[in-house]
Amino acid sequence: MENYWSTVILVFLLAAVPPSFQQDLTPYCRGYKWIVIDCGAANTFYDGSIGKTWETDDSYIQAGEKKLVSISTIRDEMKTLRCFPSGPKNCYNLPLENHSNYLFVPVFCMETMTTFKSRQHLALSNDTIYHEFIFTTGKKGHVNVCLIQTQANQIPFISSLEAAPVEETTYRLMTKNMALYFESRINYGANQSVPERLPLCVDLYSRIWKPEQVSRYRNIDDFIGWTWLVAENYPPSAVLETAIVANNASESIFLPINFREKYQVLAYFVLYFDASTVHPFMEESETTKLDIFVDGQLVNITQFPIMDSRLVVSVCPVNVTGGTANLTISVAEGATTPPFLNGLEVFSVIGVSKAVRSSTDLSVFKTFFGLVMFSLYVVL
Ligand SMILES: *[C@@H]1O[C@H](CO)[C@@H](O)[C@H](O)[C@H]1NC(C)=O
Ligand SMILES: *[C@@H]1O[C@H](CO)[C@@H](O)[C@H](O)[C@H]1NC(C)=O
Ligand SMILES: *[C@@H]1O[C@H](CO)[C@@H](O)[C@H](O)[C@H]1NC(C)=O
Ligand SMILES: *[C@@H]1O[C@H](CO)[C@@H](O)[C@H](O)[C@H]1NC(C)=O
Ligand SMILES: *[C@@H]1O[C@H](CO)[C@@H](O)[C@H](O)[C@H]1NC(C)=O
Ligand SMILES: *[C@@H]1O[C@H](CO)[C@@H](O)[C@H](O)[C@H]1NC(C)=O
Ligand SMILES: *[C@@H]1O[C@H](CO)[C@@H](O)[C@H](O)[C@H]1NC(C)=O
Repeated sequence: MENYWSTVILVFLLAAVPPSFQQDLTPYCRGYKWIVIDCGAANTFYDGSIGKTWETDDSYIQAGEKKLVSISTIRDEMKTLRCFPSGPKNCYNLPLENHSNYLFVPVFCMETMTTFKSRQHLALSNDTIYHEFIFTTGKKGHVNVCLIQTQANQIPFISSLEAAPVEETTYRLMTKNMALYFESRINYGANQSVPERLPLCVDLYSRIWKPEQVSRYRNIDDFIGWTWLVAENYPPSAVLETAIVANNASESIFLPINFREKYQVLAYFVLYFDASTVHPFMEESETTKLDIFVDGQLVNITQFPIMDSRLVVSVCPVNVTGGTANLTISVAEGATTPPFLNGLEVFSVIGVSKAVRSSTDLSVFKTFFGLVMFSLYVVL
């Protein structure tokens, strides 16, 4: 009965949204198809919170079984999954464009896992396992996303799968020989009332920005805009209009950033600044200039131009060891306004060159099963 009702509600939601409106929400994708798959779902549905329509996975994979799960989640796409009780490897085939950049997000809902009848013997967290990659497709375009059984008593499954086309100028320090693996994306200063997942009309790539206030600094959380901004990587206004600010110019902002892996990794940092959020009434005589350090090493001196308060600083590669990078932002010599930060993105770099194609490249997947992006080492 419960399943019957959820189906009816989903169909109703879909019917309630005019088709023209659904199309209007994806204008910035260079005509390339977004792939937004609700794995194991019986029906497509329109998701107003992110402004996208979830499609079923029927045209991407035949193997495996669809499961409906009864869990309490606000995310409808987490209520179904596709699992693979047989076969060592099962693959989704995604028709992506050749030589193009994509933001790729497979999600595994762990709560789903605990309620779904199988032979799990693992202590599972109550979490959504969110992975994200940014990579460039090879000359074939098509990408196989494979779920691999790594232990005999475990059944691989997947809840949702998304691939968003990304402009070539976005994440500009990424080369064709690297993929970026998401570590964190933080909307500093924003309180919990700002959603993590912003809709397409606010974030071009519908990225997850975790709102975070840091109590030892001043948090600026009064924002007005719900749009994306023309700056490097198109940050949403909801990110640039909130910030953390040091209490005075002699204090530094110090942020330890955690990585998933404890061994040495190369990292990609993107720091988002909007001086007008923090110093709206700046005098001409005041200068905003910041020194940025990672683990004590100076990686950028950021001088804000007089006419433009927004600045996006990308730094790559940065060596990180031991699973934590200490990010420090201090006032540079001669400047007078306290250091601040609006937003931060951190990725680890996965090499995809011909020389390093061993499975250790993909050891970021230390989950209980392996997920391998085939294209990373077959197509390239
Ligand atoms: C899992 O999350 C739900 C909703 O967030 C919560 O109500 C429940 O107590 C959590 N369960 C465990 C075991 O943490
Ligand atoms: C990429 O795709 C375009 C359009 O389908 C095609 O014209 C072009 O030859 C392809 N490039 C390569 C290297 O395969
Ligand atoms: C969060 O920020 C919004 C916008 O500035 C504000 O209206 C709201 O009161 C804040 N909520 C909390 C709990 O601080
Ligand atoms: C700057 O702020 C920090 C932290 O609040 C404080 O410890 C320090 O004394 C302040 N320095 C000056 C010069 O006011
Ligand atoms: C990062 O900062 C912490 C706390 O100050 C310190 O213990 C640690 O050694 C620092 N790590 C590096 C790599 O500098
Ligand atoms: C710091 O970053 C800015 C913005 O990306 C760049 O223009 C500038 O050259 C960088 N400066 C240094 C010293 O790396
Ligand atoms: C990172 O560390 C390795 C050795 O541990 C070194 O060869 C390489 O040059 C370093 N890269 C950067 C960007 O510092």
